[in-house]
Amino acid sequence: MTRAAPSSGPQADGRLDTGGRLDGFRLLVTGIATADSIAFATARSAQRAGARVVASAFPRDGDRARQAVSTLDDPIPVVECDATSAGDLDRLGTSVDELLGGLDGVVHAIAYAPTELLGGTLLDAPTDRVGIAFTTSVVSYVALGRLLAELAPAAGGSLVGLDFDASGAWPVYNWMGICKAALESANRYLARDLGPRRIRANLVAAGPLHTRAADAIPGFGHLLEAWETTAPLGWDPTDAAVAAEAVCFLLSEAAAAITGEILHVDGGYHAMAAPLRPMAGEPTDPSAARTTAHDEVTDVDDGRPFDMTLPVREGATR
Ligand SMILES: NC(=O)c1ccc[n+]([C@@H]2O[C@H](COP(=O)([O-])OP(=O)(O)OC[C@H]3O[C@@H](n4cnc5c(N)ncnc54)[C@H](O)[C@@H]3O)[C@@H](O)[C@H]2O)c1
Repeated sequence: MTRAAPSSGPQADGRLDTGGRLDGFRLLVTGIATADSIAFATARSAQRAGARVVASAFPRDGDRARQAVSTLDDPIPVVECDATSAGDLDRLGTSVDELLGGLDGVVHAIAYAPTELLGGTLLDAPTDRVGIAFTTSVVSYVALGRLLAELAPAAGGSLVGLDFDASGAWPVYNWMGICKAALESANRYLARDLGPRRIRANLVAAGPLHTRAADAIPGFGHLLEAWETTAPLGWDPTDAAVAAEAVCFLLSEAAAAITGEILHVDGGYHAMAAPLRPMAGEPTDPSAARTTAHDEVTDVDDGRPFDMTLPVREGATR
């Protein structure tokens, strides 16, 4: 695949001008439900970078997706597809081939877990619906990798999925977190099996963004608070474009030698070992915070207070 070199320089909205980076690239973007969807931001970024884009949407979200894409610079076709249905996936492949004449890239932005699998503890969650969460959130990634392999040219292609860092246990995320860990593993196996076809497989691990799926997670605000205190670059949970731009990078020839990777787009949160800032409303003087957090803590040996140099915030995740 030969692609034009990316141009640079800020646009009116302050973002880099990525025009040309995906010139002629034929792209399927799954998972548009609303204009807040990461998939929607990705379709917009990819289109602005020169890609020809087809969207797919869960049938129940078809009308909402069509409404959202009607606001793009150049509205794109929406094909309805339940990613857990083999028949739907076959029909999606046929439609995309008819619309684009092949495929250079696929974006997987699909996840679902029944509410009872989120919140509380893992031990309390009923397990009879774990299958639907796994099939929707993980198996569909492999299915879309297969679809890309069928439609990609000999020059290869690029598969990119959306991840939420699964290297540790989060509050509330529970079975969805376990599905994301499986997604990360599936990504490595797909990199292995698609590599000989010159098809790359990568994930973008985004920080928390206000979308329909995220806002439905009980305790999602708790994750936002963690980012507020810990991301060294800061984090805007309404700006899905930062994740979208990273997806476009991984789709593009600029990432030609990258596969099996997880690219964190989280303001640097994943690299920090502890909160860097107090929560709004908490004392900014560390000694004040230390007193508050530890004034009851004493050394069992001699009864003197511990000298703990880091303030501890109740509920801190890292
Ligand atoms: N929002 C966040 O904070 C965040 C952070 C990191 C990763 N992600 C991931 O980004 C991806 C997109 O989610 P989002 O946050 O944009 O939310 P969203 O609600 O906009 O998108 C989720 C999409 O999954 C689709 N979907 C669910 N079941 C489906 C099925 N059976 N077949 C086809 N599509 C189905 C929905 O229709 C929807 O379009 C997900 O994988 C999510 O886990 C989200």
